[in-house]
Amino acid sequence: MPRKICFINYKGGVGKTSLIVNTAAALAQQGKRVLLVDLDTQSNASIWLMRLDRWNKLNVDGRGSIYSLFDPAVERLSDIIIEDVVRDKSGRVVLRGLDLVPTTFNLVDLENEHKGDPAKPPFLFFYEQLREIENNYDYILFDNPPNLLRASQIGVFSSNEIYVPANPDALSLIGFTLLVEKLMLFQKRSASFRQAGMGPAVSIRGIVFNAIKSNVDIEVPKMRMQLRLNQFKSKRRAHPDAKIFKTQIRDATVVRRAVTLGLPVCLIGQPKSGEDSVVSDYFSVAAELEGSCSVGKLKQAC
Ligand SMILES: Nc1ncnc2c1ncn2[C@@H]1O[C@H](COP(=O)(O)OP(=O)(O)OP(=O)(O)O)[C@@H](O)[C@H]1O
Ligand SMILES: [Mg+2]
Repeated sequence: MPRKICFINYKGGVGKTSLIVNTAAALAQQGKRVLLVDLDTQSNASIWLMRLDRWNKLNVDGRGSIYSLFDPAVERLSDIIIEDVVRDKSGRVVLRGLDLVPTTFNLVDLENEHKGDPAKPPFLFFYEQLREIENNYDYILFDNPPNLLRASQIGVFSSNEIYVPANPDALSLIGFTLLVEKLMLFQKRSASFRQAGMGPAVSIRGIVFNAIKSNVDIEVPKMRMQLRLNQFKSKRRAHPDAKIFKTQIRDATVVRRAVTLGLPVCLIGQPKSGEDSVVSDYFSVAAELEGSCSVGKLKQAC
């Protein structure tokens, strides 16, 4: 059974997509089979990994992306997965093992236009199709928008673990708090749809600080986040083992440039300075996610 993981915070722009794309690439580089599901109408992960030209065709066509599972339901999940999505400009596969469920701008219609069947909300509809293919993967990662509307509910319902990317500021803390409130409501509303074999209901497992500038001390915001996490743990609103990751992702220009280049950072020939590279941060996050796997082993695989 794969690990099914959702990256979400109610605060936008904290680095959810950057973290998920680069961590997914780190996992794929060490031989894991990874499926990344883009659930954000902005399509940032899809545009990044497919590159704009290829994604544009999908966006104009309106088929081959996640909304075509729903309205009208013209395709199945297994039809729209893009295998080994990371390619160079000539279309040659440059990273094996990272597949994508792409999204396009029409996903926004899931929120209003889509009527659907109240007995089978989109999150259940998607989950049933996911079950058919999930065993092809070691990891299924969901890139969520900063809300818990219908598209986002798909990721939360299908996952067992939530990780919260955060910046060291008050707004990220508020975003985390709001997320937990909304999550509790959704858990209650969706409980009756849970099926046998789904594994434990999703819970908050960790917080990852992102875009940390080298000269900035984040001890105070980190302590505030830890206190809030402890409160949630004591109220059983977060998993008892939930933690702030030891690894924090540094602020690095190459993370922004990676989007334009259409590659995860570990495939960009940036001048490497060993331990100083942001690439090693993403590999460390992947290793912390893996738990049992050592950071050294992961780095060797890159
Ligand atoms: N470690 C980093 N160093 C430098 N820039 C970063 C870093 N992480 C993210 N960014 C930049 O911050 C911006 C927001 O990042 P990203 O799109 O990953 O956030 P998000 O949480 O997914 O946003 P949204 O809520 O809109 O989905 C992007 O321009 C991205 O390139
Ligand atoms: Mg995003």
